[in-house]
Amino acid sequence: MKLEVFENPQQLAELVASEIAARVSSASHNFVLGVATGNTMIPLYQALSKYSPLAISRGFALDEYIGLESDDVGSFAHYVRHSIELPLGIRPGTILVPEVTGDFISAAESFEAEIMKTPIDIQILGVGRNGHIGFNEPGSDAGSKTRVVTLSSDTRIDNGADFEGLAPQRAMTQGIATILAARAIYLVATGANKAQAIGKLLHCEIDDSFPVTQLSNHPDLRVFIDHELQQAI
Ligand code: GLP
Repeated sequence: MKLEVFENPQQLAELVASEIAARVSSASHNFVLGVATGNTMIPLYQALSKYSPLAISRGFALDEYIGLESDDVGSFAHYVRHSIELPLGIRPGTILVPEVTGDFISAAESFEAEIMKTPIDIQILGVGRNGHIGFNEPGSDAGSKTRVVTLSSDTRIDNGADFEGLAPQRAMTQGIATILAARAIYLVATGANKAQAIGKLLHCEIDDSFPVTQLSNHPDLRVFIDHELQQAI
């Protein structure tokens, strides 16, 4: 694990974006990018838009809420289209978002199979205040794959701003094992409210009640945080 601390979220975003853009442009193979949603990543995607068009061949989102229309502004499909693909010059549809209509079990299996066919080169990852990654909530199995999950009330409250109150109750998410299969993981966290989760990770002890700690055994984990978060640990 390699930790890098930045003065502020903007400086973090500029440097991580330039690094991702350099890795994409120097790749000798078709580059596959894993993307995270959430407010933390907005400055990063804004900084990455300076490198548009970003030449990725494929991408995967981590998760999607169940029960929303795909054009609902709170859906991750909407986020991926409007905050990632369009500003970064990526052809719409290049980044796959879990399909949450129809048969969930076969949709989850086929999403997982697609990722395993074209492994993710860099997975951009955030963390929830309660230590969740993707939507793998506290107590999630380390061997979990893409599946439907029930969100904790903490997460529904934390992510509620887009939904006039509470976020939906269920979602489909890549599992912890799916996330760990990425070749490199870039974990980005800013602000004091992520201090407990990141503090647990930095102590390197795997704790099922903080899924983010499962990342500590990944061979190529970079952790990017800001000064405010570091001070709060
Ligand atoms: C959601 C997403 C996560 C993201 C987390 C943090 O729950 N499923 O992938 O990391 O939010 O969001 P924020 O960056 O808004 O704090």
